[in-house]
Parts: sequence; C-alpha cells; structure tokens
Amino acid sequence: MLAAKHIHKQYIQRHWFGPSSVTEAVNKVTLELRAGETVGLVGESGSGKSTLARCMAMLEPITEGSLTWNDKDITQISFEESRELRRNIQLIFQDPIDALNPRLTIERILTEPLYHFAIGTLQDRKHKARQAIERVGLNSDHLSRYPTELSRGQCQRVNIARALMIDPQILICDEIISALDVSTGAQIVRLLLDLQQQFGYGYLFISHDLARVMQVSHRIAVMYKGEIVETRASSGFHLEAEHPYTRSLLAAVPKLRSSAF
Ligand SMILES: Nc1ncnc2c1ncn2[C@@H]1O[C@H](COP(=O)(O)OP(=O)(O)OP(=O)(O)O)[C@@H](O)[C@H]1O
Ligand SMILES: [Mg+2]
Repeated sequence: MLAAKHIHKQYIQRHWFGPSSVTEAVNKVTLELRAGETVGLVGESGSGKSTLARCMAMLEPITEGSLTWNDKDITQISFEESRELRRNIQLIFQDPIDALNPRLTIERILTEPLYHFAIGTLQDRKHKARQAIERVGLNSDHLSRYPTELSRGQCQRVNIARALMIDPQILICDEIISALDVSTGAQIVRLLLDLQQQFGYGYLFISHDLARVMQVSHRIAVMYKGEIVETRASSGFHLEAEHPYTRSLLAAVPKLRSSAF
C-alpha cells in the first residue's frame, strides 16, 4: 500500500527582480492507494492533481510530510532504493502519442523498461512484450509497428502495456482518456477494469469528468486549491458529498452524464 501523509509540495519561482513567488501546489494531502482498489481524483485545472501524482510516483521530492510503502517510510530513501520501489508505481499520461518515441517499434518501446531494470534475457523480454500487448487487447502483429501506424486509442493501450511490463502494483492514470473520443475512452476504462479484476492492480484515476470517476472508482477524493477537501466512498457520493466545490461539480453531472454514456 502506498500512503501519503500530510504531504506538501511547493514550487518556488525566482525572479530577476522582486521577491520569489511560492506556489503551494499540494497542501497537507493524505491519501492511500492499495492493490485492487480504484481511487478517483477530481478537481479543477491547477488544483494540484498531476503534482500529487508525480509526488506519489516518487518522480518529484515532496517538501513536507511523508510517503510510506507497505508501512515502510520511503520519504528519505536513497536513489537506488527509490529506483527499485518505482517499479511498483507506474504513471500513465494524457497524451498517448507524445508518450511514445516515434522512432522505436512497439516491441522496443515495451521492452525498454526491462532493459532499464536489467530484467530477463532477450527471449524473456520478447515473450513478456507479446503477453503485455495481448493483455491490452492488441496482438503480436502490432509489435513490429511504429507509434505513428497506430490510432490514438491503440497508442494508449501500448502505454498501458508498457506500464504493465514490470509488474507494478499501482497505476496512476493522469487524465488518460481526456485526449480520446468518448467511445475509445469508454473502451480504455473497460480495459482498466478487466485488468484490475484479473491482476488486482490499484489505480489512482485522475479526471475532470466526475461522471466517469463515479463510474470507475471505489473511493473519490476531491482536490481544490492544493488540498483534498473530501474523500468518500463512490456509492452514495452524490448524496453525501458536502464541500461546496463538490456540490458544484455534482450539479453539472446530469448534463455530463447524457453526453458521456
Ligand atoms: N514544475 C512546476 N513549477 C512551478 N509550478 C508548477 C510546476 N508544476 C505545477 N506547478 C503549479 O502547481 C499548481 C498545480 O498544478 P498541477 O499541474 O498539479 O494541476 P492539475 O490539477 O494537474 O491541473 P490540470 O487539470 O490542468 O492538469 C499550478 O498552480 C501549477 O502552475
Ligand atoms: Mg494535470
């Protein structure tokens, strides 16, 4: 289990003249992610969702607070140890094509994390790539292709397959369906749910779309100006949510619902 306790993330911008400005991107956030569970994270643009995602994936240091992995404090661990731990937590981003190197074949893209972590023989790596591409609903014919020869939805499937190559426990999905049309996005969501059922992954599912988040999550956290202002079970969320920002999001859901499903 990955747990963030009272974490802060500040960005300090130094200016040529005048005082530096400080952005409190994440403020006092406590959040737990565990295998088999989907936590939805909603909040307006600039509320700190991606910053929190990067901090929890150990891609950026936190300013204050602590991170634990299976109750072990990992806030201050060495770079080597954090490299090993990062295998357990994979991030997938919004733009499916941008995330893939256009000069590499899909097989090379998928096996890259195995080279990085020095896992397996060449044959093992090829076998794992075939397995991963099939798990995300593509087939081994796609392995010899380049990203430009695939659709956006297929590219996002490749990004998911790449994240699965090193057997993570937690996947952080930062707006991964926002750049896709509605039906392709729905297929990707279905794929995530199938993978969770089969392999027990835990997800942090970040989205602007509360209707979608309510559909896929077990728990929902609402972020507002750097803080998580409420966290609730998805069932009953629409009745129990109290924060004014959440109520305003919910007020927009019926309209979203008719266009999203
Ligand atoms: N590298 C950085 N340097 C300075 N400020 C940053 C940096 N990254 C993010 N910020 C600031 O931190 C705040 C939170 O940004 P973040 O990208 O986490 O928001 P978000 O909720 O993911 O927004 P969106 O929904 O638009 O993706 C913003 O005010 C942003 O300008
Ligand atoms: Mg973001």
